[in-house]
Amino acid sequence: MSMITLETPDELRRASREQRRCGRRIALVPTMGALHSGHLSLVQAARRRADWIVLSLFVNPAQFGPNEDLDAYPRDLEGDRRVAEEAGVDVLYHPAVEAIYPPGDATRVRVSRLTEGLCGPWRPGHFEGVSTVVTKLLAACEADVAVFGRKDYQQWRVIQRMTRDLALGTEIVGAPIVREADGLALSSRNRYLSPTERTAALALPRALEAGEAAVRAGETGATVVIRRMREVVDAQPGVTAEYLEIVDAHELQALSILQGEILLAGALCVGSARLIDNREMKIP
Ligand code: PAJ
Repeated sequence: MSMITLETPDELRRASREQRRCGRRIALVPTMGALHSGHLSLVQAARRRADWIVLSLFVNPAQFGPNEDLDAYPRDLEGDRRVAEEAGVDVLYHPAVEAIYPPGDATRVRVSRLTEGLCGPWRPGHFEGVSTVVTKLLAACEADVAVFGRKDYQQWRVIQRMTRDLALGTEIVGAPIVREADGLALSSRNRYLSPTERTAALALPRALEAGEAAVRAGETGATVVIRRMREVVDAQPGVTAEYLEIVDAHELQALSILQGEILLAGALCVGSARLIDNREMKIP
């Protein structure tokens, strides 16, 4: 069956209910487009868990700050359409801004605690924009499962919490990070990087790698490991770390002693791009 495009929540809900009546399991893969192999890995994860795959493509104004890259955000609808269809997506859900935020819209969804650290303080309002739009997507799609990438680890945990708290009934799956051969995590924002910046950006995965190595070597003090990560970033000209942190992998609270399931996470500014990355570790 070839891919169809739907543009309003009502159209999506109608189509989705029809599929459910036929006994199909429904998966949603939310994206902002400029699709790359990271996004396609989510489609594959969705296919393993469902029969009917909806990929949403919506550059959500509510999650961009006033000084962020909303206008510059890469848009390539025709390219994305081709890539999505080849990946086996059944529905491309591509709503206009007014279909998601109708005139007079006054509703926002806010998740506390999990949004307080990591990217939270650096992007005020960002997670509120994300949880609001994902609520709207889940409400229209009524999916059995929705797949998110653990590249945006905090986002995944926030959506998981929100879905439980609101009893939305959709299972939230977190898929592993897809990286380039040299270790850089795939991101639509990598398109902003010049060749020099692209090389400099490797400081982020390398810093996380250095942190991980320190933990593996038995270091349990967060300050020491964070300093190790910072040294790697500081040694790289042309980049600045927004944050380098270590938190517990579930509640995302800062740790001083490293134990259990932890997350090493960082955000790096390179040229006009802001890149994030992380590594999960289990300390026995
Ligand atoms: P976007 O940045 O387009 O990412 C869409 C999904 O792809 C997210 O779940 C993200 O974590 C995942 N993803 C991106 N790069 C990845 C990589 N290298 N490996 C694995 N997964 C990757 O995240 C958003 O859009 C938006 O915030 C959205 C959830 C769509 C809400 O607007």
